[in-house]
Amino acid sequence: RVPTVGIDIGGTKVAAGVVDPDGNILEQLRTETPDRSKSPKVVEDTIVELVLDLSERHDVHAVGIGAAGWVDADRSRVLFAPHLSWRDEPLRDRLEERLLVPVMVDNDANTAAWAEWRFGAGRGQDDLVMITLGTGIGGAILEDGHVKRGRYGVAGEFGHMQVVPGGHRCPCGNRGCWEQYSSGNALVREAREMAAAESPVAYGIIDRVGGNISDITGPLITQLAREGDAMCVELLQDIGQWLGVGIANLAAALDPSCFVIGGGVSAADDLLIGPARDAFRRNLTGRGYRPEARIVQAELGNEAGLVGAADLARLVARRFRRAN
Ligand code: BGC
Ligand code: NA
Ligand code: ZN
Repeated sequence: RVPTVGIDIGGTKVAAGVVDPDGNILEQLRTETPDRSKSPKVVEDTIVELVLDLSERHDVHAVGIGAAGWVDADRSRVLFAPHLSWRDEPLRDRLEERLLVPVMVDNDANTAAWAEWRFGAGRGQDDLVMITLGTGIGGAILEDGHVKRGRYGVAGEFGHMQVVPGGHRCPCGNRGCWEQYSSGNALVREAREMAAAESPVAYGIIDRVGGNISDITGPLITQLAREGDAMCVELLQDIGQWLGVGIANLAAALDPSCFVIGGGVSAADDLLIGPARDAFRRNLTGRGYRPEARIVQAELGNEAGLVGAADLARLVARRFRRAN
């Protein structure tokens, strides 16, 4: 019953945690994600430092990585990452060379889905779709306890489905991607735009950041919305509405029993999920004549990615021990 380490590498934060076999986090460390302009080596160094730090107090037998990028079918290389500097990066081998323990690499939304299915809101759901709202939108399809990876490993990239022809430019190379309308980045972009335009509803937030528009962040918007700030409530409604439209499309394609919404933005609770449920019902094809999937908030919150990565690493390490 040894604990393993899980690491969640997102567009803005790296979280590392020691996790026991029941999904409990024994210790957690957090740091900023190195800037996208920095080389992949810098992100690798950050991971190694975090693991070595945790190893001083815990016996680390395996490491799981949930990375905000497209991981190949062997769960070894990061093919591409819109919000990070990885381009065909042999992450697993690099880390195994330096850490000398088995390493598992997977997409961050896939590891989050695994954690929610094992320990959280997805328990008992055999057809589950996970959507994480952070810097971008992450996605995962879980059927009968298996993450669907597609032929090349990159199934579930819902965030880059086009929802607005000719819309906002996305770092994936296209325009109008779903994550440009429903994510932490979208929320912050809209809030900053309204503040810069000195919209009359933006006075509250402008005041809160002392006029420094670049200090507007996702958590601040959520906090103000909870306090009843009209603009922030409205912005979360917009994000939620786009979320619901996308979920209706996913229901048309995949027909799961349940959608689990996680990632940093999901901390906004019903301010976000409420409008998402409304938009989902209004946009669901064949509505009124089919069972409706439930839309629920992730129970492990923003920690799902690291908990799932640690748990998957445990399974990989077990196989590794048997093979050696
Ligand atoms: C990436 C995904 C990732 C998601 C959330 C998207 O932009 O394409 O691979 O899971 O962001 O981090
Ligand atoms: Na995924
Ligand atoms: Zn895109």
